[in-house]
Amino acid sequence: MSIRLSPRLRALADFIPAGAVPVDVGTDHAYLPVWLLQEGVCERAYATDLRPGPLARARAGAEEHGVAERLTLFLCDGLALCPPEAVDTVVLAGMGGETILGILDRSPWALDRRLVIQAQTKLPELRAALVERGLAIQDAALADDAGRLYLIWLVGRGPGDPEAAVDAPLLEKRDPLLKPWLAEQIKRASKQLHGLESARAVDGEAVAALRRELTRLRALQREVLQW
Ligand SMILES: C[S@@+](CC[C@H](N)C(=O)[O-])C[C@H]1O[C@@H](n2cnc3c(N)ncnc32)[C@H](O)[C@@H]1O
Repeated sequence: MSIRLSPRLRALADFIPAGAVPVDVGTDHAYLPVWLLQEGVCERAYATDLRPGPLARARAGAEEHGVAERLTLFLCDGLALCPPEAVDTVVLAGMGGETILGILDRSPWALDRRLVIQAQTKLPELRAALVERGLAIQDAALADDAGRLYLIWLVGRGPGDPEAAVDAPLLEKRDPLLKPWLAEQIKRASKQLHGLESARAVDGEAVAALRRELTRLRALQREVLQW
């Protein structure tokens, strides 16, 4: 039986072109690579996980759906055991921004592959770190998964704009989820600013940066509300 992907995983899959050979890092159930193999998007795929439990789930899922021979699984940190020459696409999803960056820094060959990234935390910091490493966000998508919004990036070599916002490609595409996304970002930044301003030792630089970000988000929100 075919598996049904959640909207978040489906948005990741949409950035993987037919014929790609992906590795899904931190795969857990391996839903994404199993779906890509079942649907014929990919002939072969790789997946890794740090922990034996998730990797056992991945193996069971691949066997159940008849794709085990085409999915190679590695129990390892990040891309440690993945042969660089075997893959052209690296998927890093459902993990924190720092974890994702650590994985890329421990396997710098991955910076020369197509990267499909969905970070759970630290999006601005991760975007800045990717740009520092010579990468650019080439496209982005939002997914609404059970009422929660997720931002997905397609990343590749290119001159990234260090000042560009994490959501810049969505504005160009007039993504309808940009409105609720901005409302969520404004709420989060306002709460963070309140916390910083009421701290005993106020970090002036952090407060100024967050105020600038809030001004940017509100201006963007005004623009989007005109659509
Ligand atoms: C929340 S799940 C995400 C699963 C899937 N990628 C997704 O987006 O639905 C995170 C998975 O990443 C794995 N993980 C965390 N750090 C890792 C690392 N450094 N290397 C490989 N896997 C890791 C965890 O064991 C867990 O199975």
